[in-house]
Order: sequence, then structure tokens, then C-alpha cells
Amino acid sequence: IKKIAVFTSGGDSPGMNAAIRSVVRTCAYMKVDCVAIYRGYQGMIEGDFKPMDARSVNNIINKGGTILKSARCDDFRTKEGRKKAYDQLKKEGVDAFVVIGGDGSFTGALKFNEEYDFPVIGIPGTIDNDIFGTTFTLGFDTALNTVVEVIDKIRDTASSHNRLFFVEVMGRDVGHIALNAGVGAGAEEILIPEENLGLERLLESLKRSKASGKSSSIVIVAEGDKIGKNVFELKEYVEEHLPIYDVRVSVLGHMQRGGAPSCYDRVLASRMGVKAVESLLEGKSNLMVGVQDNKLILTPISKAIKGHTKIDKELMRVSDIMTV
Ligand code: F6P
Repeated sequence: IKKIAVFTSGGDSPGMNAAIRSVVRTCAYMKVDCVAIYRGYQGMIEGDFKPMDARSVNNIINKGGTILKSARCDDFRTKEGRKKAYDQLKKEGVDAFVVIGGDGSFTGALKFNEEYDFPVIGIPGTIDNDIFGTTFTLGFDTALNTVVEVIDKIRDTASSHNRLFFVEVMGRDVGHIALNAGVGAGAEEILIPEENLGLERLLESLKRSKASGKSSSIVIVAEGDKIGKNVFELKEYVEEHLPIYDVRVSVLGHMQRGGAPSCYDRVLASRMGVKAVESLLEGKSNLMVGVQDNKLILTPISKAIKGHTKIDKELMRVSDIMTV
């Protein structure tokens, strides 16, 4: 392998830049050429490449987002689109690529590898932490810190007014952000897709909380939760059934995807980038780099995209106990 391409794809996440930096610098260290692709698979199809050397990635380890931009690309879902991408890679002399992204990006890589036997390695970058084969995805830790910091601020105003807040967090169809940030921020209840608490139990819990003398309550709602009402409908429902509460809603939105990566995400990104390039140079392909028990592991991409990491039952119990 003489030339490796790197790109980011799908939703951005903090730590992607640190991973790009790591891939580029590992290539430089190993004396392998490196090229960046802008705008993910779309840029691959259009030939939007730029040669990278160790100095091209100065001062980006601390930056949120992705300097290479990201895009969701419909053209790459078609055979014709993938053929164009392959032709561009060949024209550029690229022998292998590292894709930094989530399961949609990996599905594309897998398909491409099947059709062209092209060496690919994935690095999991998403705040949702929803990828099988790694305990942590890049950006998850940073997003948690962002969410907890914001909820701390909400708590200040909530307790000043004895209010109840429903705070909606991201996570697509999994509840990792909600559960971890909920425990970290001391939420009264956490509504996640993996376990439907039900409206009755929610009301019971809020009643109990008020009776126990709490001055405010924060309920974290994962965007994909299955209680059947969104945060605004939950507000109306609680106000109607429990008029003892003055309720407000806060939808955190895309702020959760931004910001400087945490130290944990920077270190993980640096380690994963090295492992990705080394794996390609060892002739490996079709694998995703993950971390388990603080060791880097490789999982077939086909497995990584099939399952979700399971929700932490122990953490759910801890959350229950903390709200006594
Ligand atoms: O996958 C990351 C994520 O931020 C999810 O948590 C969220 O559901 C989704 O992306 C939002 O996507 P978009 O930025 O396209 O609105």
C-alpha cells in the first residue's frame, strides 16, 4: 500500500479532526502517501482530493467538527456512484482508505469493498455511541460533557423557580447519551428507547419526588424514546395531570455535536488513527477499530453495522437508586 485516503462521513462528531490528524501523521511516520477527501463519499465521487503531509494537520487536534467537511451521500448508494468513486480513487493512485463515521458510512465502505476488493478500515465517529464493537465512539465523551454542563445550568434556574424541566437530548434511536448524561447530571428520570417507563410510572415518580421535598426536577428524554409523546406533549400531559408542577422544556439540539473534543476523545482518536493505518499496512481490511477494556480491538465492519452496543443495565439501576 503506497497511498491511503482519509475522510469523514455522516454526522460530524468532536474528535474527528484528531483522528484525521492521527491518520495523516501515521502515514507520514510510516512513509506512506496520504490524501484527504473532502465531503465524504460525495467528494470521492467528484474527485475532491488534497494531498496531506504531517504539517497539513497542524492545530486541529483541539477543533470540533471536521476540517474535511462531511456529507450524507445518496449517489454512493448506487452502483454507478460507487463506480465513479472507484475511478477517481484509481486516478489519484489511492490503494486504501480510512473512513471516519457512523454505521451509514461503514455500510457504504463494506459495499464498496465487496464490489472492488478495496482495502478499507473504519474509525467510529458519532456522538450516539451506537456502534457494536467499541465501548466508546469518538465524540460520545465530549457530547456527554457538553450535555452535563448545560443541564447544570438548567438546574440553577429550575431550582430557583421550583420547576420541572424536560430536557431532550440526541442519540437517534439509542439512549446512551440520555442515560450517561442523566446519571452525571443527577436527573430525576431518564426516558430512553431501550426501556419504556410509561406515562403512569412517570407521573408516580414525579409525585414521589415532589412529596419527598425536592425543589426541582430534571427529566432527560432521549430523542428516540418510546413513551409516545415528545417533550412538548409531555409538558402538557404533566401540567394537566399534575398541576403541582410548573413545567418547562429545553431541546438541546446540535450544540451537542459541537465544541472542542475532550481529552478522552483526543487520545482515543490518536490511538485509533495509528491502529487504522497500521492495520491497512499489515494487509487487513473490512475492519473497524474499537476500544474495549481500554485496549484497541478490530471488529468486522459487517458486525459493527448490524448490532448496537447494549444499554448499561447497571447504570440504569444506579440511576433508580440515586432518585430515592
Ligand atoms: O448521529 C448523530 C446525530 O446527531 C443524532 O444524534 C441525531 O439524531 C442526528 O445525528 C441528527 O442529524 P442531522 O444533523 O442530519 O439533523
